[in-house]
Amino acid sequence: MPGLTIGDTVPNLELDSTHGKIRIHDYVGDGYAIIFSHPADFTPVCTTEMAAMAGYAKEFEKRGVKLLGISCDDVESHREWTKDIEAYGGGKHKLTYPILADPGRDAIRQLNMVDPDEKDAKGVSLPSRALHVVGPDKAVKLSFLYPATTGRNMDEVLRAVDSLLTAAKHGGKVATPANWKPGECAVIAPGVSDEEARKMFPQGFETADLPCKKGYLRFTKV
Ligand code: BEZ
Repeated sequence: MPGLTIGDTVPNLELDSTHGKIRIHDYVGDGYAIIFSHPADFTPVCTTEMAAMAGYAKEFEKRGVKLLGISCDDVESHREWTKDIEAYGGGKHKLTYPILADPGRDAIRQLNMVDPDEKDAKGVSLPSRALHVVGPDKAVKLSFLYPATTGRNMDEVLRAVDSLLTAAKHGGKVATPANWKPGECAVIAPGVSDEEARKMFPQGFETADLPCKKGYLRFTKV
């Protein structure tokens, strides 16, 4: 059965967290939120990821994007683990975002965050390194799905969020090309005629000269 994917509404679960009870839709509110899972507390890659995310928290906050971690242990364990995470980060960054507790593994199943290959000591499946960016409409806009053995690159999470926000700001009429970074040109989405593009982008656009001469690759400053 396919799990939660782009366009699906994220389930409105209510879970305990290091910041008290959280109902996911209320937490997302009118902005964007990133929900990211970790196989377990006190595991090496997870500690480095949590500390890295704490270091990026201000960048996400500037963009109005909330962070929400989830790991399959209880709140007490998360609180103890937080001390390690902050110490690993050299005490430079407090963990300001909540970590959801999912000791029963029900939330990770509903959020499509299960790694079938990773099991705890009792043989129960652990979460993968899944990450969903959820929009103000509570729908999944973008997902990462990494195995437990691959730590995520937070620069890439931020870059992907910047791309999503750029596309949303222009009503989906622009997209960002390979390896795009903020400040670089975006491309005009297919389906936007040159005439429409000239009205929408008075700054103009440049069309790549490609063998097919279809003029479909158009770059514009955004
Ligand atoms: C880790 O966080 O380091 C980890 C967790 C489960 C499997 C492998 C690595």
